Amino acid sequence: MHHDKKFLKFPEGFWWGSAWSAEQAEGKGNTGKGRTQWDMSWDKEPNRFYRGVNTETATDFFHRYPQDIQLMKETGHNSFRLSISWARLFPEGDGDVSQEAIAFYRDMLNQMNANGIKPFANLFHFDMPERMMQKGGWESREVVDAYVRFADTCFAAFGDLVFHWFTFNEPLGPVLGGYMEDFHYPNVVDFKRGVQVAFNTVLASAKAIEVFKRHGLGSKIGIILNLSPTYPRSENGFDKQAAEYADLFYNRSFLDPSVKGTFPQKLTDTLKQYGHLPTYTPEDLAVIRDNTVQILGLNYYEPRRVKARTAAVDPQSPFMPEWFFESYVMPGRRFNPHRGWEIYEKGIYDLCIDIRDNYGNIDAFISENGMGVADEERFMQNGQVQDIYRIGYIKNHLAYVHQAIGEGCNINGYHLWTFIDCWSWINAYKNRYGLVALDLNSQQRTVKLSGEFYKKLSDENGFEF
Ligand code: BG6
Repeated sequence: MHHDKKFLKFPEGFWWGSAWSAEQAEGKGNTGKGRTQWDMSWDKEPNRFYRGVNTETATDFFHRYPQDIQLMKETGHNSFRLSISWARLFPEGDGDVSQEAIAFYRDMLNQMNANGIKPFANLFHFDMPERMMQKGGWESREVVDAYVRFADTCFAAFGDLVFHWFTFNEPLGPVLGGYMEDFHYPNVVDFKRGVQVAFNTVLASAKAIEVFKRHGLGSKIGIILNLSPTYPRSENGFDKQAAEYADLFYNRSFLDPSVKGTFPQKLTDTLKQYGHLPTYTPEDLAVIRDNTVQILGLNYYEPRRVKARTAAVDPQSPFMPEWFFESYVMPGRRFNPHRGWEIYEKGIYDLCIDIRDNYGNIDAFISENGMGVADEERFMQNGQVQDIYRIGYIKNHLAYVHQAIGEGCNINGYHLWTFIDCWSWINAYKNRYGLVALDLNSQQRTVKLSGEFYKKLSDENGFEF
């Protein structure tokens, strides 16, 4: 850095924390948790999972949460996002609720509150119960209704203990993974079905918000979206148009209905033109219109860079968003070699400005940002992972968040992905993201250098940059 160091102070009460999800952290436990789509994936193709590790034990949060909550404190958390497992509460996805599961989450949430950690609870993080998947997953209205009952049960059971609620994490994930790019069950490549899945999750989210409001809780409810500011290769009109389409399909498709209650006109016109509109009723649109989010979680990892298509589209091939653009690998880009994701810190700033200017400056926070590194034991010295790269990554992003706040953005917190190294979809334990290292054999936890940094950051509510 060639500038004089300054202390970047964050607003009073800023939420410092991290996030993870039930399937990735808990392990099965003993409440009679039902199977999920990840067990189905595992049965079908265990070789897909890095080094053959499934979610049976994961980070064993199920058994270790009392100690882990102390570790949250040690690493500066004043808030934490977890997800509530649908298949744990309802082993069949619907039907009878498990009282053991309710007791488990109530105790966990109570302990978090008692230790000064605000629980942010998310209701769906890629973990469809098996029975629901067999009924068609998000393609099915029956599954939407079962999800709303699950949400209703959660508001009743945990409403007194949760600080903020979220209906979905990255609803784009199941669409891309399950119906376009073959990395989530059911591993289908069929964009038309993907559009129905997208519509039904938007509807499910709105219906859950509608039910939430009836509970009259003091908390807020929102959604967590993975948003990638989209940059054209050049200012050339064709490149800019390509970027506009990519942005519509992958950002605005969820952002607009969630915050504004309507889908972007150009997106629906395009889907209509190609015969890809989903099935819906006028009542569905009214529910979506009347039940927008009260808070928005922004997951930011990398920008999307696109250019105009060079290869002609085969009009006989099935319609895909990529008919309008091609991805563009910018020469000289910086990227994380472990994950292949570009590192572009200013993207987080551009995202915040977009929310300020185009989405009513809604109450928002950074709900995920983080750096996955493979074989992190390599960076172990005297028993501690010296992840200075992660500290740099966090600081560089936070500096832009700080700038955005200075320019009036309503950003109220930062949650890192993740707390203790946890399992991830397909990649299993390949890329480690945590502030705390996990020894998979012994389940031993060791705070990384970044965990110590995070504590200081939170205690001082800022950092020198
Ligand atoms: C986020 C997801 O998009 O990326 C997390 O919300 C996930 O669930 C994280 O673990 C990191 O992904 P990966 O594949 O690098 O482990």
